[in-house]
Amino acid sequence: MHAVVLVGGFGTRLRPLTLSTPKPLLPIANVRQLEHLIANLGTAGVTEVVLAIGFKPEPFFEAFPEGVCAGIKLHYAVEPEPLDTAGAIAFAARHAGVNETFVVMNGDIMCDVDIAELVKFHKARGAEGTLHLTPVEDPSQYGVVEVNEDGWVQRFVEKPAPGETDSRVINAGTYVLEPSVLDRMPVNQKLSIERVVFPAMVAEGVLAAMPTNDYWIDTGRPDTYLQSNLDLIDGTRSLILSSVGINSVIAPSASITHSVIGENAVIGEGCVVIDSVVLPGATVGKRVRLERSLVMGQVEDDASLTDCVIGEHAVIAVGAELIAQRVPNPDEIK
Ligand code: GDD
Ligand code: MG
Repeated sequence: MHAVVLVGGFGTRLRPLTLSTPKPLLPIANVRQLEHLIANLGTAGVTEVVLAIGFKPEPFFEAFPEGVCAGIKLHYAVEPEPLDTAGAIAFAARHAGVNETFVVMNGDIMCDVDIAELVKFHKARGAEGTLHLTPVEDPSQYGVVEVNEDGWVQRFVEKPAPGETDSRVINAGTYVLEPSVLDRMPVNQKLSIERVVFPAMVAEGVLAAMPTNDYWIDTGRPDTYLQSNLDLIDGTRSLILSSVGINSVIAPSASITHSVIGENAVIGEGCVVIDSVVLPGATVGKRVRLERSLVMGQVEDDASLTDCVIGEHAVIAVGAELIAQRVPNPDEIK
């Protein structure tokens, strides 16, 4: 079975981290997010993954030079220009010659859904498409779904306005689709699956959905990206990964609490690191305090960062005290 993984977004909300690394290639507990997703797809019997790449393909080629990720063969489908979700899915599926039931996954989520179950649910109903659904507190930033008792979608509203729907159940970003869905998507045309294709399928009564209550998080914001890292080291999920990456150098007097330290990162004497992620290759000087922060660049001695996001080439000066700042500030970058 094929799967298409959508990796073409700009990762705007995670800047400055995504200025140097596409979001799906950022590590979560020292394993690239894409690798987590593809491992889950592999468990469900997916044998080939097509990466739907909207722009800047080189980091993906470099990350997987053998064209293999989590033991699964990769195809790279690079759109002539970003084609939006449906355009990208169609471009990728045609690129790989998909002609049977296939899976689609947004590349910016982490979840424990049993994809084999989703495929079974889809086939049992004879649906043309089946969505995975998850409940959230605030559905306004998502595709909100109304579903009947038999698992058929009655309504799909992308980013609903206040009061537009009472449902708190959202499209969780994993789909099972029949190849006939591709006929709804013209060749090389920009098209949104959420705003155009799903509502059309709902109108025809051919879109099913399976709600689950297992782990799900959208990793697209600094706070949720941080959370997705911590959830993998503290037993929130069934999988528990090591919080310390290989070849990292942590001074014996540093105190690290509930944090992930990336491969090849350096943490100096007397540092206090709490609820933070120090990304691979980052350098943190002596007596630095980090709390709820994401650090990719360099932090010099005696600095203190709370709720900050520090990009790859940034250098935080000796003794700086920063609260809730992004460096460099993405709003000032053209
Ligand atoms: N290849 C390619 N080309 N990929 C794209 C493009 C494009 O032009 N545009 C977006 N993507 C990818 C993104 O990288 C992401 O993996 C996925 O498509 C969804 O796009 P987002 O921009 O992240 O959408 P969203 O987060 O606002 O909403 C989507 O995800 C929610 C769940 O997290 C929708 O699918 C919602 O319905 C859903 O609830
Ligand atoms: Mg998203």
